[in-house]
Amino acid sequence: MNDEVPYLDNQTRITLNDGRVIPQLGLGVWKTPPEETATVVREAVKLGYHSVDTARLYRNEDGVGEALADYPDVFVTTKVWNDEQGYDNTLRAYEESCRLLRRPVLDMYLIHWPMPEQGQYVETWKALVTLQREGRVKSIGVSNFEPDHLSRIMDATGVVPAVNQIELHPFFQQKALRAFNEQHNIRTESWRPLGKGQVLENATIGEVARSVGRTPAQVIIRWHLQNGLIVIPKSANPKRLAENLDVFDFTLTESDMAAIEKLDREDGRMGAHPMTARF
Ligand SMILES: NC(=O)c1ccc[n+]([C@@H]2O[C@H](COP(=O)([O-])OP(=O)(O)OC[C@H]3O[C@@H](n4cnc5c(N)ncnc54)[C@H](OP(=O)(O)O)[C@@H]3O)[C@@H](O)[C@H]2O)c1
Repeated sequence: MNDEVPYLDNQTRITLNDGRVIPQLGLGVWKTPPEETATVVREAVKLGYHSVDTARLYRNEDGVGEALADYPDVFVTTKVWNDEQGYDNTLRAYEESCRLLRRPVLDMYLIHWPMPEQGQYVETWKALVTLQREGRVKSIGVSNFEPDHLSRIMDATGVVPAVNQIELHPFFQQKALRAFNEQHNIRTESWRPLGKGQVLENATIGEVARSVGRTPAQVIIRWHLQNGLIVIPKSANPKRLAENLDVFDFTLTESDMAAIEKLDREDGRMGAHPMTARF
């Protein structure tokens, strides 16, 4: 282990249904340009990030792998993209991700989207189950899965995903899906956690931020943490990387949490709907 990694005792961790442990806060690298990724991830790890979320789609697994070559203890998640779904394709895609990430075994592998019209996600899940049984990956999970999709893969294999990574932020709190995940012992992981500019600039978030003497982004990240969610904000900016990690020494009150809960909106989704997504 590289001794430049700061001691991370103040950070919270979540235990998954397979007994493995994931840092509750990680770094997302969607839209981090491939040529900048190694620098950003190296900076993040030196600040104290201990988990990185990438995907085949992001085309920056190579940069993540380069940065983490000296940090084998940092938790790495990647995902199989839609055009590589299916049993054999997924096994091949996994090998390529391992090569780019420079690890023989990854911490977590996810199905990026169910793509129900493609009709392959059950076979894809079977490939992830095989990889885990063979010791090639430690934890397996899914992303953007609705209850129907989750039920189908669990019924087909008897294996429950460790996480379901879904769009989740104060404007789109996904209470029903979170309850379904919880009922099945699946941990919920929030993507787009800061919810773009509108959420960061929201008046209620601003008021809470002023009252606790923190930034809007820190308040939002803290809200995810106190809701028991795994959270992976993205930044490619050193100042904001540090800001987003500096969230373990304050607490939102029950009334702060209740005020943010009221921001949930029927139309709060910003990304694609998993039932109709076409990429
Ligand atoms: N599974 C999926 O389908 C899926 C979909 C989308 C995302 N994800 C994952 O979730 C991660 C996070 O989602 P996201 O990247 O869409 O959105 P996000 O983390 O909610 O927001 C990222 C945006 O906020 C800015 N930002 C970051 N910290 C900030 C701060 N402290 N103050 C003000 N602005 C700040 C970033 O700009 P700068 O970089 O300039 O700081 C960037 O433009 C992704 O990177 C990816 O790993 C997964």
